[in-house]
Amino acid sequence: MSPYKLFQYIDKLSEVEGKEVILRGWVQNKTGKGKLQFIQLRDGTGVCQCVLFRDNVSEEVFADAKTLTQESSLEIKGTVRKEDRAIGGYEIDVTGLKIYQISKDYPITPKEHGDAFLIEHRHLWLRSSRQHAIMRVRAAVIKAIRDFFDGNGFKLMDSPILTPSACEGTSTLFETKYFDLGSAYLSQSGQLYAEASAMSLGKVYTFGPTFRAERSKTRKHLTEFWMVEPEMAFFDINDDMDLAEDLVEYIVQYCLKTCQKEFNLLERDTTKLEKVKRPFHRMSYSNAVDWLVENNIPLKKKVDGQEVDILPFPWGEDFGTVQEEALMEQFEKPCIIHRYPSEIKAFYMKRDPDNSDVVLAMDMLGPEKAGEIIGGSQREDNIDLLLERIEKHNLPLEDFQWYLDLRRFGSVPHSGFGLGIERVVKWISGAAHIREVIPFPRMIYRIVP
Ligand code: 4AD
Ligand code: MG
Repeated sequence: MSPYKLFQYIDKLSEVEGKEVILRGWVQNKTGKGKLQFIQLRDGTGVCQCVLFRDNVSEEVFADAKTLTQESSLEIKGTVRKEDRAIGGYEIDVTGLKIYQISKDYPITPKEHGDAFLIEHRHLWLRSSRQHAIMRVRAAVIKAIRDFFDGNGFKLMDSPILTPSACEGTSTLFETKYFDLGSAYLSQSGQLYAEASAMSLGKVYTFGPTFRAERSKTRKHLTEFWMVEPEMAFFDINDDMDLAEDLVEYIVQYCLKTCQKEFNLLERDTTKLEKVKRPFHRMSYSNAVDWLVENNIPLKKKVDGQEVDILPFPWGEDFGTVQEEALMEQFEKPCIIHRYPSEIKAFYMKRDPDNSDVVLAMDMLGPEKAGEIIGGSQREDNIDLLLERIEKHNLPLEDFQWYLDLRRFGSVPHSGFGLGIERVVKWISGAAHIREVIPFPRMIYRIVP
């Protein structure tokens, strides 16, 4: 019995075999013939077949059951019977029912619907078994992340959403009016605040929504997404990469342990996930470029509105989907690409002391076309070099005075990274599009519901 209410949840039926219980939920499907009616009841924890036999219930109850439609809400009373052929292993022999509401013309029927229709009805689409399973995987990913950090001495330090300046480049900022103080911007990353927090608590993580006014219309981009960002004092780039590998291995293995039911429903090939164990692959950006050149993978560039292939791939250009997917085809585990050209990376990244053309940055790419799941770096801890970078990036110096204070008062080597929750859930669940892995996706052309 639920500790809060006098009803039972479907995923706990094994504890009450043979007993009479009350279930509450929605009709996922209903069939019947003659003296029998079968109600597939969904309650959020699972689906259970409830069997109505005319001789076991009053005429009124049998007639009521006949009026039930898809997504009608109801309470069912009945006896729990073990049934190996049933989805959850148990069935209910119904003795009574109470209808909350009869649902009329539920728009999402068992037939196939187009993507546009489904996303417009996201508030209802969430009830379908596939979406339900993906949301459970998402919850497992988030729980794994929290357990990992909380269990390894990290402290959660929330960072603000309304911020006075850019963190990840000025071209993707959402601007909003802020009383008499001019403009505020929705946070692109909690990192700068995480750095301040790490100087107080040593090892911290922020976890919250982040915003990018990105015009990318792809299967991997949202304008609002969730990011977890650990930041560690006294960690260098190697420590940072080790931590990123540990975290991703932990998340995947946790999901394998707790989400088998969901993976079965999603028809996810879990043998691939089972291989996600440390050590992962690592490659410098320069070696990755060599590989692209050897394998004739071009840079795709828009010239006068036309996409052209540039060969050989020029050192200094950022990787896009084409390069990432080509590189990753050879691997079954994630691969960390490190030491990117400083020109294409953020202002706060530390130059490699062995080669000032590159920064101590690292991106983790996932297998199975997962794309970039992590972006991180060692941070510039030298105030003069940091000032130079802020100037070069044309960032307003006054806004960064507080951030520079971290380099004025006890500056230390430190590192961190950001992991995009939706990228990881998309990869692990095998979903085709990122809009399926967040309850209410925000994209360039969609803000409703
Ligand atoms: O690589 P990014 O931009 O890194 C940062 O924001 C750093 N400040 C993080 C840090 O060092 N603390 O973003 C980090 C991750 C990406 O690797 C990707 O997984 C995800 O966030 N991400 C997105 N996910 C969905 N939609 C978008 N538009 C995303 N942009 C980044
Ligand atoms: Mg990145």
